[in-house]
Amino acid sequence: MIKALYPGSFDPITNGHIDIIQRASTLCDEVLVTVLPNISKSPLFSLEERVEMISTVTKNIENVSVTTYSGLLVNFANEQNAHVIIKGLRAVSDFEYEFQMALMNRKLNTNVETIFLMTQSKNSFLSSSLVKEVARLNGCITGLVPGPVEEALIKKFHK
Ligand code: PNS
Repeated sequence: MIKALYPGSFDPITNGHIDIIQRASTLCDEVLVTVLPNISKSPLFSLEERVEMISTVTKNIENVSVTTYSGLLVNFANEQNAHVIIKGLRAVSDFEYEFQMALMNRKLNTNVETIFLMTQSKNSFLSSSLVKEVARLNGCITGLVPGPVEEALIKKFHK
């Protein structure tokens, strides 16, 4: 039984994240999307808003669930008896940061393995930060995020 955590700040979830979740759900028995605070980012959406959006847009994937955690990811992996962390990798620019985190997580907990899934090329330019910037400046974000997330962004910035 492979139980995997898919951690991130998901502020907000994009179609790139959803692609990784879908692919992870075919490789693992259970995927627990885990929304965590990233101490170097100031989020636009609250943890509760992010969990709600992710739950809505992944509700049709049977073996995927969503939760939050505020401590060390590897401690949560222990609590959940999960031995796999899934991360998406877009470009070389992601590599250094992700590599560092994977090594630190393994140093903290040798029972946990990080598995990287490469983004699809159509999503390789996509990031939550860019989507927020485009939405804030009234640009079109259709096709970059799921419908409910697009609505939530428009509501946040323009209503
Ligand atoms: O989507 P992000 O912002 O790149 O995700 C980063 C995140 C939230 C996965 C990372 O900051 C994290 O794991 N935070 C939890 C605290 C922790 O375990 N820190 C040590 C990481 S090596």
